[in-house]
Amino acid sequence: MLNKASIELDGVSFKVQAGITVKRALELRGYKVSKYPDPASLFTPCETGGCWSCAVEVDGQPQRACLTIVRDGLSIKTVLPDDYVPRRIVTGFRGHQVGGVGTPWWLKSASGYIETACFAAGCNFRCPQCQNWDITYQSQGKLLSPREAAERMTEARYKFRVDRMAISGGESTLNRAWLLEYARELNKLNSDANARIHVDTNGSILTKDYIDELVEAGVTDVGPDLKGFNLESFMRITGMEDRDLAERYQRTAWEAVRYLIEEYKDRVFTGVGIPYNRDLISVQEVEMMGEKLSKIDPELQVCVLDYRPEFKKQDLVRPSYDEMVEIHTVLSGKGLKTVVCQTKYGHIGPRPDMA
Ligand code: FES
Repeated sequence: MLNKASIELDGVSFKVQAGITVKRALELRGYKVSKYPDPASLFTPCETGGCWSCAVEVDGQPQRACLTIVRDGLSIKTVLPDDYVPRRIVTGFRGHQVGGVGTPWWLKSASGYIETACFAAGCNFRCPQCQNWDITYQSQGKLLSPREAAERMTEARYKFRVDRMAISGGESTLNRAWLLEYARELNKLNSDANARIHVDTNGSILTKDYIDELVEAGVTDVGPDLKGFNLESFMRITGMEDRDLAERYQRTAWEAVRYLIEEYKDRVFTGVGIPYNRDLISVQEVEMMGEKLSKIDPELQVCVLDYRPEFKKQDLVRPSYDEMVEIHTVLSGKGLKTVVCQTKYGHIGPRPDMA
Protein backbone atom coordinates (compact mmCIF):
# COMPACT_ATOMS: atom_id res chain seq x y z
CA MET A 1 0.00 0.00 0.00
CA LEU A 2 1.27 3.49 -0.82
CA ASN A 3 2.20 5.68 2.13
CA LYS A 4 0.13 8.81 2.40
CA ALA A 5 1.35 12.12 3.78
CA SER A 6 -0.86 14.80 5.27
CA ILE A 7 0.28 18.19 4.06
CA GLU A 8 -0.99 21.73 4.08
CA LEU A 9 -0.95 23.69 0.85
CA ASP A 10 -1.76 27.39 0.99
CA GLY A 11 -3.71 26.75 4.17
CA VAL A 12 -5.69 23.77 2.89
CA SER A 13 -4.98 20.28 4.29
CA PHE A 14 -5.06 17.15 2.18
CA LYS A 15 -3.39 13.80 1.75
CA VAL A 16 -0.98 12.95 -0.97
CA GLN A 17 1.36 10.10 -1.74
CA ALA A 18 4.52 10.46 0.34
CA GLY A 19 7.79 10.65 -1.55
CA ILE A 20 6.62 12.67 -4.55
CA THR A 21 8.01 16.15 -5.18
CA VAL A 22 6.31 19.33 -4.05
CA LYS A 23 5.97 20.20 -7.74
CA ARG A 24 4.00 17.00 -8.36
CA ALA A 25 1.84 17.62 -5.30
CA LEU A 26 1.01 21.06 -6.64
CA GLU A 27 0.07 19.59 -10.00
CA LEU A 28 -2.16 17.00 -8.33
CA ARG A 29 -3.98 19.82 -6.53
CA GLY A 30 -4.62 21.61 -9.81
CA TYR A 31 -1.86 24.22 -9.65
CA LYS A 32 -0.36 25.07 -13.03
CA VAL A 33 3.34 24.51 -13.63
CA SER A 34 5.08 25.49 -16.81
CA LYS A 35 8.38 25.36 -18.66
CA TYR A 36 7.61 28.61 -20.43
CA PRO A 37 7.15 31.67 -18.20
CA ASP A 38 3.53 32.36 -17.44
CA PRO A 39 2.31 34.59 -14.58
CA ALA A 40 -0.41 32.07 -13.73
CA SER A 41 1.99 29.13 -13.38
CA LEU A 42 4.89 28.05 -11.25
CA PHE A 43 7.91 28.21 -13.55
CA THR A 44 9.91 24.95 -13.41
CA PRO A 45 12.31 25.16 -16.35
CA CYS A 46 15.29 23.07 -15.25
CA GLU A 47 13.99 20.51 -12.74
CA THR A 48 17.54 19.71 -11.71
CA GLY A 49 17.73 22.15 -8.81
CA GLY A 50 20.07 24.78 -10.25
CA CYS A 51 17.88 27.71 -11.22
CA TRP A 52 15.65 28.12 -8.17
CA SER A 53 12.87 29.56 -10.37
CA CYS A 54 10.50 27.06 -8.76
CA ALA A 55 11.05 28.31 -5.19
CA VAL A 56 8.08 28.02 -2.83
CA GLU A 57 7.91 28.30 0.93
CA VAL A 58 8.17 24.94 2.69
CA ASP A 59 7.90 24.92 6.47
CA GLY A 60 8.80 28.61 6.50
CA GLN A 61 11.87 28.30 4.26
CA PRO A 62 12.31 28.85 0.51
CA GLN A 63 12.79 25.47 -1.16
CA ARG A 64 12.82 24.13 -4.70
CA ALA A 65 9.49 22.58 -5.64
CA CYS A 66 11.18 20.40 -8.25
CA LEU A 67 13.46 18.63 -5.76
CA THR A 68 11.81 18.89 -2.36
CA ILE A 69 10.16 15.64 -1.33
CA VAL A 70 6.77 15.55 0.34
CA ARG A 71 6.59 14.08 3.81
CA ASP A 72 3.98 14.00 6.52
CA GLY A 73 3.20 17.36 8.12
CA LEU A 74 4.75 19.55 5.44
CA SER A 75 3.38 23.08 5.09
CA ILE A 76 3.70 24.67 1.63
CA LYS A 77 2.96 28.24 0.59
CA THR A 78 3.17 29.01 -3.09
CA VAL A 79 3.54 32.76 -2.56
CA LEU A 80 6.93 33.74 -1.22
CA PRO A 81 7.19 36.48 1.42
CA ASP A 82 7.66 40.07 0.21
CA ASP A 83 11.21 40.18 1.57
CA TYR A 84 12.30 37.00 -0.27
CA VAL A 85 15.63 37.53 -2.00
CA PRO A 86 16.03 35.36 -5.11
CA ARG A 87 18.94 32.97 -5.11
CA ARG A 88 20.67 30.80 -7.64
CA ILE A 89 23.55 28.32 -7.80
CA VAL A 90 26.36 30.16 -9.58
CA THR A 91 29.99 29.18 -9.90
CA GLY A 92 33.11 30.35 -11.71
CA PHE A 93 33.97 34.05 -11.31
CA ARG A 94 37.25 33.49 -13.07
CA GLY A 95 39.18 35.07 -15.89
CA HIS A 96 38.28 33.82 -19.36
CA GLN A 97 40.60 33.90 -22.36
CA VAL A 98 38.15 33.10 -25.15
CA GLY A 99 34.83 34.65 -24.19
CA GLY A 100 31.37 33.60 -25.34
CA VAL A 101 29.25 34.14 -28.42
CA GLY A 102 28.39 37.63 -27.19
CA THR A 103 32.05 38.65 -26.96
CA PRO A 104 33.16 40.95 -29.80
CA TRP A 105 35.37 38.99 -32.19
CA TRP A 106 38.22 41.51 -32.19
CA LEU A 107 38.80 40.78 -28.50
CA LYS A 108 38.99 37.03 -29.10
CA SER A 109 42.36 37.38 -30.75
CA ALA A 110 43.84 39.21 -27.77
CA SER A 111 46.16 37.23 -25.56
CA GLY A 112 45.45 36.93 -21.86
CA TYR A 113 42.11 37.37 -20.13
CA ILE A 114 39.39 39.21 -21.99
CA GLU A 115 36.57 38.89 -19.49
CA THR A 116 35.52 37.29 -16.25
CA ALA A 117 32.78 34.69 -16.38
CA CYS A 118 30.41 32.96 -14.03
CA PHE A 119 28.08 30.08 -14.78
CA ALA A 120 24.52 29.71 -13.54
CA ALA A 121 23.39 26.14 -12.89
CA GLY A 122 20.18 24.82 -14.41
CA CYS A 123 19.02 24.70 -17.99
CA ASN A 124 15.70 24.19 -19.75
CA PHE A 125 17.46 22.31 -22.58
CA ARG A 126 18.87 18.79 -22.43
CA CYS A 127 21.59 19.10 -25.09
CA PRO A 128 23.24 15.65 -25.26
CA GLN A 129 26.51 17.33 -26.28
CA CYS A 130 26.38 20.05 -23.57
CA GLN A 131 29.84 21.53 -23.14
CA ASN A 132 29.18 22.63 -19.59
CA TRP A 133 27.14 19.71 -18.31
CA ASP A 134 28.86 19.39 -14.95
CA ILE A 135 27.81 22.92 -13.98
CA THR A 136 24.53 22.90 -15.89
CA TYR A 137 23.03 19.93 -14.09
CA GLN A 138 24.50 20.69 -10.69
CA SER A 139 21.86 20.79 -7.97
CA GLN A 140 24.27 21.25 -5.07
CA GLY A 141 26.53 24.25 -4.89
CA LYS A 142 26.95 27.70 -3.54
CA LEU A 143 23.64 29.48 -3.51
CA LEU A 144 24.14 33.19 -4.14
CA SER A 145 21.91 36.22 -3.87
CA PRO A 146 22.22 38.77 -6.71
CA ARG A 147 24.28 41.04 -4.45
CA GLU A 148 26.67 38.27 -3.42
CA ALA A 149 27.19 37.23 -7.04
CA ALA A 150 27.73 40.85 -8.14
CA GLU A 151 30.35 41.34 -5.41
CA ARG A 152 32.20 38.19 -6.47
CA MET A 153 32.10 39.24 -10.09
CA THR A 154 33.40 42.70 -9.26
CA GLU A 155 36.27 41.21 -7.25
CA ALA A 156 37.07 38.96 -10.22
CA ARG A 157 36.99 41.91 -12.59
CA TYR A 158 39.72 43.66 -10.64
CA LYS A 159 41.68 40.51 -9.94
CA PHE A 160 41.86 39.60 -13.64
CA ARG A 161 42.08 43.25 -14.77
CA VAL A 162 39.31 43.21 -17.32
CA ASP A 163 36.25 45.32 -17.98
CA ARG A 164 33.93 42.65 -19.28
CA MET A 165 31.81 40.59 -16.86
CA ALA A 166 29.94 37.66 -18.38
CA ILE A 167 27.30 35.29 -17.12
CA SER A 168 26.62 32.05 -18.93
CA GLY A 169 25.36 28.64 -17.87
CA GLY A 170 23.47 26.41 -17.80
CA GLU A 171 20.92 28.94 -18.94
CA SER A 172 21.52 32.36 -17.44
CA THR A 173 18.03 33.79 -18.02
CA LEU A 174 15.92 31.17 -16.24
CA ASN A 175 15.51 32.94 -12.93
CA ARG A 176 14.44 36.35 -14.21
CA ALA A 177 14.13 38.11 -10.85
CA TRP A 178 17.60 36.92 -9.90
CA LEU A 179 19.27 37.92 -13.18
CA LEU A 180 17.72 41.38 -13.29
CA GLU A 181 18.74 42.12 -9.72
CA TYR A 182 22.22 40.73 -10.36
CA ALA A 183 22.65 43.06 -13.36
CA ARG A 184 21.42 46.04 -11.33
CA GLU A 185 23.80 45.27 -8.49
CA LEU A 186 26.68 44.73 -10.87
CA ASN A 187 25.90 48.00 -12.58
CA LYS A 188 25.92 49.82 -9.23
CA LEU A 189 29.29 48.32 -8.30
CA ASN A 190 30.77 49.03 -11.75
CA SER A 191 29.45 52.41 -12.75
CA ASP A 192 32.51 53.39 -14.83
CA ALA A 193 32.13 53.79 -18.59
CA ASN A 194 34.43 50.84 -19.38
CA ALA A 195 32.37 48.22 -17.59
CA ARG A 196 30.52 45.75 -19.81
CA ILE A 197 27.84 43.40 -18.51
CA HIS A 198 27.54 40.44 -20.83
CA VAL A 199 24.78 37.78 -20.86
CA ASP A 200 25.15 34.60 -22.93
CA THR A 201 21.87 32.76 -23.36
CA ASN A 202 19.98 30.22 -25.41
CA GLY A 203 17.39 32.99 -25.91
CA SER A 204 14.48 30.60 -25.40
CA ILE A 205 12.60 32.77 -22.87
CA LEU A 206 14.16 36.08 -23.84
CA THR A 207 10.99 37.96 -24.67
CA LYS A 208 10.95 41.63 -25.66
CA ASP A 209 9.92 42.84 -22.22
CA TYR A 210 12.67 40.72 -20.67
CA ILE A 211 15.24 42.30 -23.02
CA ASP A 212 13.93 45.77 -22.15
CA GLU A 213 14.38 45.03 -18.46
CA LEU A 214 17.88 43.64 -18.94
CA VAL A 215 19.00 46.72 -20.85
CA GLU A 216 17.40 48.93 -18.24
CA ALA A 217 19.30 46.98 -15.56
CA GLY A 218 22.61 47.72 -17.28
CA VAL A 219 23.29 44.77 -19.59
CA THR A 220 25.48 45.91 -22.50
CA ASP A 221 26.27 42.70 -24.43
CA VAL A 222 24.00 39.77 -25.28
CA GLY A 223 24.93 36.49 -26.95
CA PRO A 224 21.89 34.45 -28.04
CA ASP A 225 22.91 30.95 -29.09
CA LEU A 226 20.52 29.76 -31.80
CA LYS A 227 20.33 25.99 -32.03
CA GLY A 228 19.00 25.43 -35.53
CA PHE A 229 16.77 26.58 -38.36
CA ASN A 230 14.54 23.53 -38.69
CA LEU A 231 12.57 22.43 -35.65
CA GLU A 232 13.83 18.85 -36.04
CA SER A 233 17.45 20.01 -35.79
CA PHE A 234 16.60 22.26 -32.88
CA MET A 235 15.04 19.34 -31.03
CA ARG A 236 17.96 17.04 -31.84
CA ILE A 237 20.53 19.58 -30.68
CA THR A 238 18.66 20.61 -27.53
CA GLY A 239 17.47 17.11 -26.62
CA MET A 240 13.90 18.39 -26.35
CA GLU A 241 10.97 16.03 -26.84
CA ASP A 242 8.01 18.39 -26.43
CA ARG A 243 7.50 19.71 -29.95
CA ASP A 244 5.20 22.61 -29.04
CA LEU A 245 7.51 23.82 -26.30
CA ALA A 246 10.55 23.46 -28.56
CA GLU A 247 8.83 25.48 -31.26
CA ARG A 248 8.01 28.20 -28.74
CA TYR A 249 11.56 28.31 -27.39
CA GLN A 250 13.05 28.43 -30.87
CA ARG A 251 10.68 31.17 -32.04
CA THR A 252 11.40 33.26 -28.94
CA ALA A 253 15.16 32.99 -29.51
CA TRP A 254 14.97 34.12 -33.14
CA GLU A 255 12.60 36.95 -32.21
CA ALA A 256 15.03 38.01 -29.48
CA VAL A 257 17.82 38.43 -32.05
CA ARG A 258 15.59 40.51 -34.30
CA TYR A 259 14.42 42.68 -31.41
CA LEU A 260 17.94 43.24 -30.06
CA ILE A 261 19.02 44.52 -33.47
CA GLU A 262 15.92 46.55 -34.28
CA GLU A 263 15.60 48.16 -30.87
CA TYR A 264 19.06 48.19 -29.36
CA LYS A 265 21.69 47.99 -32.08
CA ASP A 266 23.31 51.25 -30.96
CA ARG A 267 23.16 50.41 -27.28
CA VAL A 268 23.80 46.69 -26.93
CA PHE A 269 26.43 44.53 -28.59
CA THR A 270 24.74 41.41 -29.95
CA GLY A 271 26.70 38.34 -31.08
CA VAL A 272 24.80 35.27 -32.22
CA GLY A 273 25.96 31.65 -31.86
CA ILE A 274 25.32 28.90 -34.41
CA PRO A 275 26.13 25.22 -33.94
CA TYR A 276 27.99 23.11 -36.45
CA ASN A 277 28.70 19.42 -36.55
CA ARG A 278 27.64 17.42 -39.58
CA ASP A 279 25.99 14.77 -37.37
CA LEU A 280 23.70 17.40 -35.87
CA ILE A 281 23.03 19.98 -38.57
CA SER A 282 23.74 20.17 -42.30
CA VAL A 283 25.81 22.79 -44.09
CA GLN A 284 22.65 23.73 -46.02
CA GLU A 285 20.81 24.43 -42.81
CA VAL A 286 23.64 26.56 -41.48
CA GLU A 287 23.45 28.44 -44.77
CA MET A 288 19.70 29.00 -44.21
CA MET A 289 20.45 30.36 -40.74
CA GLY A 290 23.03 32.67 -42.28
CA GLU A 291 20.58 33.93 -44.87
CA LYS A 292 17.96 34.69 -42.24
CA LEU A 293 20.48 36.44 -39.98
CA SER A 294 21.89 38.43 -42.88
CA LYS A 295 18.40 39.75 -43.58
CA ILE A 296 18.12 40.86 -39.96
CA ASP A 297 21.49 42.62 -40.13
CA PRO A 298 24.45 41.76 -42.38
CA GLU A 299 26.79 43.30 -39.82
CA LEU A 300 25.58 41.06 -37.02
CA GLN A 301 28.40 39.04 -35.46
CA VAL A 302 27.79 35.34 -36.04
CA CYS A 303 30.01 32.91 -34.18
CA VAL A 304 29.92 29.27 -35.32
CA LEU A 305 30.73 26.77 -32.61
CA ASP A 306 32.34 23.51 -33.74
CA TYR A 307 30.50 20.97 -31.61
CA ARG A 308 32.89 18.38 -30.24
CA PRO A 309 32.40 15.11 -28.35
CA GLU A 310 31.02 15.95 -24.91
CA PHE A 311 28.72 14.60 -22.23
CA LYS A 312 26.42 11.95 -23.76
CA LYS A 313 27.68 12.40 -27.32
CA GLN A 314 31.15 10.98 -27.10
CA ASP A 315 30.70 9.58 -30.61
CA LEU A 316 30.72 13.04 -32.20
CA VAL A 317 33.73 13.87 -34.31
CA ARG A 318 34.89 17.46 -33.94
CA PRO A 319 34.62 19.26 -37.29
CA SER A 320 37.93 19.59 -39.10
CA TYR A 321 39.54 22.94 -39.76
CA ASP A 322 38.63 22.60 -43.44
CA GLU A 323 34.97 22.00 -42.58
CA MET A 324 34.94 25.19 -40.53
CA VAL A 325 36.56 27.08 -43.40
CA GLU A 326 33.72 25.84 -45.60
CA ILE A 327 31.13 27.02 -43.05
CA HIS A 328 32.87 30.38 -42.92
CA THR A 329 32.76 30.67 -46.71
CA VAL A 330 29.10 29.64 -46.86
CA LEU A 331 28.02 32.21 -44.25
CA SER A 332 30.14 34.99 -45.72
CA GLY A 333 28.55 34.12 -49.07
CA LYS A 334 25.18 35.01 -47.58
CA GLY A 335 26.40 38.56 -47.02
CA LEU A 336 27.29 38.28 -43.34
CA LYS A 337 30.27 40.55 -42.72
CA THR A 338 31.25 39.38 -39.26
CA VAL A 339 31.53 35.61 -39.29
CA VAL A 340 33.72 33.99 -36.67
CA CYS A 341 34.33 30.24 -36.70
CA GLN A 342 35.67 28.36 -33.71
CA THR A 343 38.15 25.64 -34.67
CA LYS A 344 40.53 23.35 -32.85
CA TYR A 345 43.31 25.80 -33.78
CA GLY A 346 41.56 28.96 -32.63
CA HIS A 347 39.13 31.34 -34.30
CA ILE A 348 38.80 32.17 -37.97
CA GLY A 349 37.85 35.85 -38.01
CA PRO A 350 35.84 37.87 -40.52
CA ARG A 351 37.20 37.99 -44.06
CA PRO A 352 39.17 41.23 -44.52
CA ASP A 353 37.43 41.90 -47.84
CA MET A 354 34.04 41.81 -46.08
CA ALA A 355 34.88 44.44 -43.50
S1 FES B 1 13.06 24.17 -11.88
FE1 FES B 1 13.51 23.76 -9.80
S2 FES B 1 15.51 24.52 -9.57
FE2 FES B 1 15.10 24.88 -11.67
